[in-house]
Amino acid sequence: MSSIRIECVLRENCRCGESPVWEEASNSLLFVDIPAKKVCRWDSLSKHVQRVAVDAPVSSVALRQLGGYVATIGTKFCALNWEDQSVFVLATVDKDKTNNRFNDGKVDPAGRYFAGTMAEETAPAVLERHQGSLYSLFPDHNVKKYFDQVDISNGLDWSLDHKIFYYIDSLSYAVDAFDYDLHTGQISNRRSVYKMEKDEQIPDGMCIDAEGKLWVACYNGGRVIRLDPETGKRLQTVKLPVDKTTSCCFGGKDYSEMYVTCARDGMDAEGLLRQPDAGGIFKITGLGVKGIAPYSYAG
Ligand code: BGC
Ligand code: BGC
Ligand code: CA
Repeated sequence: MSSIRIECVLRENCRCGESPVWEEASNSLLFVDIPAKKVCRWDSLSKHVQRVAVDAPVSSVALRQLGGYVATIGTKFCALNWEDQSVFVLATVDKDKTNNRFNDGKVDPAGRYFAGTMAEETAPAVLERHQGSLYSLFPDHNVKKYFDQVDISNGLDWSLDHKIFYYIDSLSYAVDAFDYDLHTGQISNRRSVYKMEKDEQIPDGMCIDAEGKLWVACYNGGRVIRLDPETGKRLQTVKLPVDKTTSCCFGGKDYSEMYVTCARDGMDAEGLLRQPDAGGIFKITGLGVKGIAPYSYAG
């Protein structure tokens, strides 16, 4: 019997915590608070947090092979120099859509930075629909557009053999898969691999584990769920003491721990009293399955 333990390791009060990424070299967890326009780095050994403020909503952060990080800020793919807190724009998308911003993003196994966009919300998950698109930033800084008509571009990851790309458009309430060509970065043959159940609410961030199963954070569902993308079955539910769970990643020693971000925005005063750790960073141990290291942007 595994004994699962859930702990709030950082009470950051994120308005919308997102994009947890483990950085092995510094034993740290990176994450963003989208509307607060900040990128954070929590040192798991010293427990100290560093925060870098940027000038627009920052929706994802990723490691970079050259050092420092990349991040999606507003509608721009950017490089982020942590030492001097400077931001350098690598590419801009959705230039004709002034109400759009990037949302979730992640680097593929070949070092391309994938991220999708959405219309800015008037309240959580309330927005003009079909305004988003999915993109990737190649190592040469060229941008490829995959498709448009996206509502809320969210969780993404790749199968362990790199032949499948998993993707969530949140308001479809499903997890989709595409065939993936790692060599060219092309996707094809879209299909659904999981349909959310009612109490699981809105599918948000996602990561794969070392057994090829998917972990999906359920926004408003207060849980992460483990899915078998081959059978379409849910294998496990892990409930958290906060409703607005947004994303998850593996980290810690040998990627044996799971980190989960969550949001405060959209909660009323009573909800915040009941869930004082909303907006914090949670660590889950004892899952009995490990994750894999994040990939780094190659440009
Ligand atoms: C977005 C939020 C949104 C949430 C629920 C997140 O990925 O960044 O703005 O409210 O998904 O769909
Ligand atoms: C909740 C609403 C919320 C919406 C978007 C629904 O499940 O009942 O209160 O605004 O999700 O987050
Ligand atoms: Ca998200």
